[in-house]
Amino acid sequence: MKKNSFKSLTVALSVLLTSLMVCSVTVNAATPTGKRLKDVQSRVMVGTEFSSGFTNMDSTFFNTATPEFNIVTAENCMKWSDLEPSQNNFTWTEGDRLVNWAKANNYTVHGHTFVWYNQTPNWVQNLNANAMEAAMNNHIDKVMAHYKGKIPIWDVANECFEDNGTYRNSFWYRVMGKSYIEKAFIRARAADPSVKLIYNDYNLEYTGPKSNAAYEMLKDFKSRGIPVDGIGFQMHLDIQYAIDYNDFAKNMQRFADLGLEIYITEMDVRVSSNTNSAELDKQASYYKNIIEKCMAQPAVKAIQFWGFTDKYSWVPGTFQGRDNALLFDKNYNPKSAYYAVQAALATTPVPKVIYGDLDGNGSVDAIDYSLLKQYLLGAITKFPAENGLTVADVNASGSIDSLDFVIMKQYLTGLITKFPAQE
Ligand code: XIL
Repeated sequence: MKKNSFKSLTVALSVLLTSLMVCSVTVNAATPTGKRLKDVQSRVMVGTEFSSGFTNMDSTFFNTATPEFNIVTAENCMKWSDLEPSQNNFTWTEGDRLVNWAKANNYTVHGHTFVWYNQTPNWVQNLNANAMEAAMNNHIDKVMAHYKGKIPIWDVANECFEDNGTYRNSFWYRVMGKSYIEKAFIRARAADPSVKLIYNDYNLEYTGPKSNAAYEMLKDFKSRGIPVDGIGFQMHLDIQYAIDYNDFAKNMQRFADLGLEIYITEMDVRVSSNTNSAELDKQASYYKNIIEKCMAQPAVKAIQFWGFTDKYSWVPGTFQGRDNALLFDKNYNPKSAYYAVQAALATTPVPKVIYGDLDGNGSVDAIDYSLLKQYLLGAITKFPAENGLTVADVNASGSIDSLDFVIMKQYLTGLITKFPAQE
């Protein structure tokens, strides 16, 4: 073989090899096994954020993300500096793209965000108190009107506290005082009463000065009728810091007790940039434990990650030496974290069915018998237990009738020890 033809053969071979390798990177992204995360259960929405310009992403990006989730947040394009860079001049292009994509793919959109100390233009920051309030009102009115019927959840206020629990010393706070927060909520409710209004922050997972401060503020809002529907736990975690999961559950419960919905809004779990399997397993355990607690808390409405592939994440640009915080690796392959989330989402507690327990107190007794009697006589039409109409049908015949009454009597007198419905 002549030297030249050998050379061109090598060139041709290496071109072929390179293109095969390029293809394999894209084609090889493994589809995860099991159900897609949004389909594992129906109790919570599961989501991601999409960055600005997401429509230009390659097909692997969409093939991976689209079937996986059912709620999406704009990473940046619905922040003030993107939507209203100069006063009363709104740029909707990117936000509209997201909303249209969501509609076409059956996703809910989570709006993010109105008042924040960050990514808000200088023209806002330099206003005096009255002008700032007017600008805030106008921003909220215009954005909510533009997205009316398209964005059912908005983060109204974002990151308003310092870690020590004092109000964040932001331009909002310095110019308007802490009332900027409630004013934003009041305005948002008036602009579109159908939208869920959220207070969103990071480092709220634990009981401690910051979450205590958020709790006190929201409790006060509730007591004074300031409209707020939910709390957003951003949940930007790092395996360097231990988490007390029981404390997290306890913390969620106190917000739920205020009547608030809970959203996990921006979850990611950072590990080293040069990570290893031990770190990735630890990361998976963080995802698993947090989401298991969320599934046991009925107030949790959505679990949203701040992205889905380590190829696109805010982490490496923000936290030095940290990376790989999401569920899919840089080649879109599902990680241990993915399967941990999938398993945790499946842990939705199934309500325990106790046949005959019509008042839901955990046992079958004479009160249940008398409740059934009242029902059959038409004195009541339902039972105190949430699943009362199901558990009253003790022979699972499809209706509650005198036969159930007879069987109930047999049970209470010890003639039978199990209801036919249980057999
Ligand atoms: C981040 C984005 O991911 C970055 O692209 C941007 O440069 C800065 O903001 N809390 C929030 C999000 O509420 O809006 C932030 O998003 C991450 C922390």
